[in-house]
Amino acid sequence: MGTIITMLRTVLTLTFLIHNLEALYNFANATQKYIDYKIKYKKSYDNIEVEKSHYMNFIDNLNTITALNENSTDNITIYVLNKYADLDPAEVRHRYSINLKPYSKVNKGGDNKELLRSDNGIEITNTNLYDLNDADELYERYVTKHRRNITKERDRLIHYYRFVKTLVEKNRNAFEGKGNLALNDKADAVKRKDDFFY
Ligand SMILES: *[C@@H]1O[C@H](CO)[C@@H](O)[C@H](O)[C@H]1NC(C)=O
Ligand SMILES: *[C@@H]1O[C@H](CO)[C@@H](O)[C@H](O)[C@H]1NC(C)=O
Ligand SMILES: *[C@@H]1O[C@H](CO)[C@@H](O)[C@H](O)[C@H]1NC(C)=O
Ligand SMILES: *[C@@H]1O[C@H](CO)[C@@H](O)[C@H](O)[C@H]1NC(C)=O
Repeated sequence: MGTIITMLRTVLTLTFLIHNLEALYNFANATQKYIDYKIKYKKSYDNIEVEKSHYMNFIDNLNTITALNENSTDNITIYVLNKYADLDPAEVRHRYSINLKPYSKVNKGGDNKELLRSDNGIEITNTNLYDLNDADELYERYVTKHRRNITKERDRLIHYYRFVKTLVEKNRNAFEGKGNLALNDKADAVKRKDDFFY
């Protein structure tokens, strides 16, 4: 597992580097766009380190839409950054199992329904989703809280997998504005034999 994560990180870093070789925007000249973005979405960050990593994501996403717009063959479709432009989509997919796009596709001069739809007022932040990297710890706490008494190692694994699946479902629902993130005492309950499989 650790090796896979390390490999994934290397791939992501390489992609980032290759991507930036031909990047249109860089650390120095994306500043004004970032300031505009922060004002538009009322963004603030805890400290300079956190802000810096979000700025790096922003530049990467900005270059993605710039490339998409340059590649666009019609004169109608344009890509614009949305409120998730300061997140790394690959990291979000890895940590929260959500397929988040940092940009929206809109029609020039249209009523921009798509942009409005993706901007439905639900603000996803990493503080209101389950970080799957913390699944072990979350399950420990869940077991203690609900006094789950699972003695067999294999049973515990099955319940743990079911629990992680519930976390993924909760994240996805929250992202779509459905349901809440609260976990009841059924969060690791295996209803069907293969319930813990994806
Ligand atoms: C940003 O700076 C880089 C390197 O100086 C340059 O190649 C690029 O065209 C600039 N981008 C913009 C949008 O000004
Ligand atoms: C732009 O088009 C080129 C050539 O078809 C393709 O290789 C590249 O991946 C495209 N870039 C984006 C961001 O879609
Ligand atoms: C897009 O606009 C350009 C310049 O106005 C024009 O030459 C071209 O034919 C248009 N392309 C399409 C697909 O409408
Ligand atoms: C857990 O289950 C075992 C075996 O069924 C039992 O001996 C034990 O007393 C139970 N512990 C608690 C805290 O319920």
